Amino acid sequence: MPQPVTVHVPLGDRAYDVVIGEGLIADAAARIAPLLRRPRVAIVTDETVAPLHLGRLTAALDAAGIDSVSLALPAGEGTKSWPHLTHCVDWLLEQKVERRDVVIALGGGVIGDLVGFAASILRRGVRFVQIPTTLLAQVDSSVGGKTGINSTHGKNLIGAFHQPSLVLADIGVLDTLRPRDFLAGYGEVAKYGLLGDADFFEWLEINAPLLQDDLTARQHAIAHSVAMKAGIVTRDETEQGERALLNLGHTFGHALEKATGYSDRLLHGEGVAIGCALAFDLSARMGLCSQEAPSRVLEHLHRMGMPARLSDIPGDLPGDDELIALMGQDKKVVDGQLRFVLARDIGEAFVCDDAVPDLLRAVLADAR
Ligand code: GLY
Repeated sequence: MPQPVTVHVPLGDRAYDVVIGEGLIADAAARIAPLLRRPRVAIVTDETVAPLHLGRLTAALDAAGIDSVSLALPAGEGTKSWPHLTHCVDWLLEQKVERRDVVIALGGGVIGDLVGFAASILRRGVRFVQIPTTLLAQVDSSVGGKTGINSTHGKNLIGAFHQPSLVLADIGVLDTLRPRDFLAGYGEVAKYGLLGDADFFEWLEINAPLLQDDLTARQHAIAHSVAMKAGIVTRDETEQGERALLNLGHTFGHALEKATGYSDRLLHGEGVAIGCALAFDLSARMGLCSQEAPSRVLEHLHRMGMPARLSDIPGDLPGDDELIALMGQDKKVVDGQLRFVLARDIGEAFVCDDAVPDLLRAVLADAR
């Protein structure tokens, strides 16, 4: 069993560790105890994760003399909404969670985002620990302090920056994921290579097929992704510049998720994967990178069994005008102008404010 690896996120008085290893849920009490002012935590999870992992966590805490109370919310993107946020905050208050207490988010990106946001507004801010249980949450959403819920106007439009006090990424729990969910999370792993590390992308081209079975390779991929994210977040915590690169594939991806009703037709990481392929296609058409780059991206995603084209999404999609209008709802819109993360090569992404509309339409048309 590989030894845990720790990535430190050096954000001054908001600094924290992300620990990546196997068996961290069973070992959680020893890592959480130093954060506690009294031996009591509130855990928020979802109804899918609770039967799989909650018992192990509460037993570990109990064995260390830490009392816990828990709430399981419905699983799924619909939970990132006002009614569930209200329910979560009211429950935390009913449990008499105080300013100096710690709330634990046990689950995937939905739970991490919602509970982190609840923690940010509860009594004007309480500390929270992320225990991400999906690949996507381990490499992306649990790190960096973006928290929030969705609006009828679009995804993640309501939220706050609130850094966790600790992240425990137990890589063994990923064995309980459906293969499709594991792969969807892989879309975010590939994103790191594509946006800023060509050598890592090359490593993934060789080793990514092993990640579902080989824990050493899995730990390396997650730790490398987290280290890249930690570096970016440390340099640009509130996304004034460089952090926007983490949105590679997301302008397309969020529009596609909205167009498919945030449903099982397209998971978030699948939208990101398709979005990365489209972003590289647009980059090549704009003469920013060679045609070889989008071909490599498409080939790798397809070899992994991931959707990479619009035609890989089951069912009908809205027309180009509607998709482009949906992209206009993105948080990254500035002065009404669409912003894309495009690339000069694999590992060389940058933010572009002047994507050529006709080329964007051509990319969408060809990807159908
Ligand atoms: N998921 C993108 C970010 O954390 O900035």
